[in-house]
Amino acid sequence: MAKVTIQNEGHCIEVPNNSNLKEALIAAKMPLYNGPRKLLNCRGHGRCGSCEILVISGAEHLTPRTAAEHRILKTYDPHRRLACQAAVNGDAEIEVNTLAL
Ligand code: FES
Repeated sequence: MAKVTIQNEGHCIEVPNNSNLKEALIAAKMPLYNGPRKLLNCRGHGRCGSCEILVISGAEHLTPRTAAEHRILKTYDPHRRLACQAAVNGDAEIEVNTLAL
C-alpha cells in the first residue's frame, strides 16, 4: 500500500501499489480538475494536460514519465506530472488542481 497525501486538500488516501493516480484521486473524490476541465478533459488519455499535479515529495515513487507527459507538460521539472499517466508505488505528497482557469 502507498499513502498519498494531498496537501492542498488536507487529505490522505491509501492505495494499492501500482494504482493509477488519477483513478485513485477521483475515487477519493479529490478535486483533480477545476472549472470547465471537469467536463472537458481527455479522460486519462494523456492528451489534454488537465490532470497536472505538483509532486512535493516522493516523486521517485511514481512510475517514470510517459511519452504523453513529455509531449504535454511544458517543463522537465520532475515534480510536475500528469496524474492520469502516473502510477504510485510508495508514499508521496502532492497538490492537485494547480492549474489556473
Ligand atoms: S486527463 Fe487529460 S492528460 Fe490526464
